[in-house]
Amino acid sequence: MGSIKKVGITGANGTVGRVLMQGLADDYELTAFTRRAVDFPSTIVNFDKPDQVAGAFTGLDAVIHLAADPSPMADWQAVREHNLEGMYQVMEECRRAEVKRMIFASTNHTQHGNSILTTPETLDPKKELRMKLGDLPNPDSLYAVSKLFGENIGKLYSERFGIEFVGLRIGWIVPEDTPLVMRGTPAEDYLRAMFLSHRDCIAAHKRALEVDTVYMLAYVVSANGRRVFDLEETRAGLGYEPQDDAEAYFAE
Ligand SMILES: NC(=O)c1ccc[n+]([C@@H]2O[C@H](COP(=O)([O-])OP(=O)(O)OC[C@H]3O[C@@H](n4cnc5c(N)ncnc54)[C@H](O)[C@@H]3O)[C@@H](O)[C@H]2O)c1
Repeated sequence: MGSIKKVGITGANGTVGRVLMQGLADDYELTAFTRRAVDFPSTIVNFDKPDQVAGAFTGLDAVIHLAADPSPMADWQAVREHNLEGMYQVMEECRRAEVKRMIFASTNHTQHGNSILTTPETLDPKKELRMKLGDLPNPDSLYAVSKLFGENIGKLYSERFGIEFVGLRIGWIVPEDTPLVMRGTPAEDYLRAMFLSHRDCIAAHKRALEVDTVYMLAYVVSANGRRVFDLEETRAGLGYEPQDDAEAYFAE
């Protein structure tokens, strides 16, 4: 284990947050941040409210920033408040509190404009894509644009203030931990490509907390046979070795 011990998780009661609160608890001292009181101990902060954010990260070594409107259908007001203002306030508090590392929940949607069929939660498997991290973004929504803002303000703060930043372009993680939940729906092909199992999600975040880097982007999807992202750079850079493949669930 490296020098990171005290880790704050924003959006700790969401789908990803609950998986990480459980999966990281043995290795790190976790502080949960939520918007409202929840069924476990947490610090209540609205990240779009500057007066509530000030002082929130004092003493933390790293922050995993999940709090956002996670919907590609989110309207401008929601994106502006939760994803843009919230991201800026979180970066500013990382700077003030001298947080060493920031791990940011970015998204596949930053490039899904290339793989979309109709709506952002559909995918055209006939395109047979293998996109790379360095390919030009092709956001499919205002939500995706807000995540590109997050990746880029992370770059700015890493260069200007030395905050280590890991942007994870997450696929699709579902509470049920199986891609079969979308079987027979218009989203099936999309989930088969983007599926992220809970254990792969935890493993990727552990690597993001430990990897030696100043700034990095990575794909966080399982090793899906139908994936549209090239995992080689992520495997080499992040040291992430996904264990699961959505196709295995459909084969059972
Ligand atoms: N679930 C996925 O498959 C997926 C895929 C790609 C990226 N992501 C990203 O991962 C993160 C977590 O996603 P999720 O599915 O767990 O979402 P979620 O909606 O289940 O959880 C997000 C949490 O953030 C909190 N939140 C939102 N705005 C806030 C604010 N202004 N201040 C404080 N808290 C706020 C909400 O209360 C909620 O508990 C999001 O940033 C999302 O964009 C998720």
